[in-house]
Amino acid sequence: MHRRVPVGPHSSAVHEFIERGASGGPRRRFHFALFAILVSSSVPPGAPRVCTRAARPGTVPEMGEGVAGPAAMWWAAAAAVVLVGGAVLLLLDAAARALHGWYREASLGAARRARLPPGDMGWPFIGAMWAFLRAFKSGKPDAFVASFIRRFGRTGVYRTFMFSSPTILVATPEACKQVLMDDDSFVTGWPKATVALIGPKSFVAMPYDEHRRLRKLTAAPINGFDALTAYLPFIDRTVRSSLRAWAGASADGGEVAFLTELRRMTFKIIVQIFLGGAGEATMRALERSYTDLNYGMRAMAINLPGFAYRRALGARRRLVSVLQGVLDERRASTAKGFRRSSSMDMMDRLIEAEDERGRRLDDDEIIDILIMYLNAGHESSGHITMWATVFLQENPDIFAKAKAEQEAIVRSIPANQQGLTLRDFRKMEYLSQVIDETLRFVNISFVSFRQATKDVFVNGFLIPKGWKVQLWYRSVHMDPQVYPDPKKFNPSRWEGHSPRAGTFLPFGLGARLCPGNDLAKLEISVFLHHFLLGYRLTRTNPNCRVRYLPHPRPVDNCLAKITKVSDDY
Ligand code: HEM
Repeated sequence: MHRRVPVGPHSSAVHEFIERGASGGPRRRFHFALFAILVSSSVPPGAPRVCTRAARPGTVPEMGEGVAGPAAMWWAAAAAVVLVGGAVLLLLDAAARALHGWYREASLGAARRARLPPGDMGWPFIGAMWAFLRAFKSGKPDAFVASFIRRFGRTGVYRTFMFSSPTILVATPEACKQVLMDDDSFVTGWPKATVALIGPKSFVAMPYDEHRRLRKLTAAPINGFDALTAYLPFIDRTVRSSLRAWAGASADGGEVAFLTELRRMTFKIIVQIFLGGAGEATMRALERSYTDLNYGMRAMAINLPGFAYRRALGARRRLVSVLQGVLDERRASTAKGFRRSSSMDMMDRLIEAEDERGRRLDDDEIIDILIMYLNAGHESSGHITMWATVFLQENPDIFAKAKAEQEAIVRSIPANQQGLTLRDFRKMEYLSQVIDETLRFVNISFVSFRQATKDVFVNGFLIPKGWKVQLWYRSVHMDPQVYPDPKKFNPSRWEGHSPRAGTFLPFGLGARLCPGNDLAKLEISVFLHHFLLGYRLTRTNPNCRVRYLPHPRPVDNCLAKITKVSDDY
């Protein structure tokens, strides 16, 4: 008699578990992984994993050929160990989560605990960080908040544990708006690790009054009609010369890392505005350091060799040292009575700023504000410019419509006008829709951070005093109830559409609304104007994988050829 040996893990119940485990949510997949480890570790060396082959009639079954008797007993015992072991691990997992939840929430008292939004604190120390990083690193950034919605319903607010703090995730327009507009109940709440990188004396950690004062001082010179009019000629020249240089390199048979080049270009513009320009060496040194700083910003804060966060801390030290050098030079030349020929840049304004008691800013305050502005002022604009160009090139109809608009604008420019003016920029209606759609679709700033200064109710749920709040702009922009067919790039959805407050948050809202929003849109528009009229982008790897942290970008930095298609350029 030759019998098929019943192999424990292949019973129908186990099959069902495997199927469900492999396809279930993150937590179920974790249990499944534990189970799979146990199964594989409990198989004896040389034992058959699956036995379906019968021994030949009249022969003695060989080792491992699957016979009844001791092997069957072994498998039964192994299955029992697996099931008991699995159950113990599941219990330990649930106990660790429950204990962590209790530890974080017990001090709230029963009444306040009962009003918390749904959610869970996850494992001690890790919380939801693993799920967050896994979603973003596997190319499915929306899966993170989606898992909360699936498990707990569309409540719009969820509790969890991230970046070492109990945290409320906020994911609907109304709730985001409430938090962003309520300066009495919420202050900025970036993770400590991010504050250490951007600077404890920058806006990300500044007290409310100080923030208001320095924001007023620094925002006016970068936004508004006069400021933008002053910067436009430099932006125009920089864009034209950059495009010419890249087209030249491509014509010689080379390729350009389009995103890297655009980040350099936007960096040159922001350095001009903030430092009145800088030598090529200083520029390169600053820019390299910013790349490392950014990578560390949304990584796990592990300060060990080889980790992104450690590199980012080193980058910050280098930035401080370069900017300190520039500041020392500026102070020394002022002391010698040299007056700079160009108009005041932001460093001058910060050096001369006094509060109502006549106190001036220290060097470390000026440096932290500059580190923040130089970073915020080039990374996002560079990325959005790249994505807008890519989307235009990938969508011939949208490209043609945008180009026709720019051609009409050029025809309306008087013959004696040098370059573009703000009036021309204001006529770029369709291009503005293309940029808004790119901002919505790409979600370069996918989340922002606050902290509750008192107990507050949002959507009927309690956000306890001291807890962190994450505003998920990305979830708002990708919500089909807010934007039908959200995964479609469709600039025309903006035609005649004024978004409801809280539904379009690429620049945030309220007291911390991005002070560079108009400047960013101007830079991007000027670039797209010249690109549409004179150039074409041919990507080397059009289907290149996208990496989502710290910002969405193709892993090849959009390697491409830029071809000149018009003799006017
Ligand atoms: C496409 C380009 C840009 C995008 C998408 C963007 C996005 C944002 C967002 C979402 C915030 C708000 C963060 C929060 O809610 O806490 C913000 C703040 C900020 N942005 Fe931008 N930004 C861009 C360009 C710029 C530029 C060009 C500058 C500088 C000239 C700049 C400087 C800042 C600063 C200093 C803050 C902090 C404001 C504060 O805390 O008061 N940004 N940005």
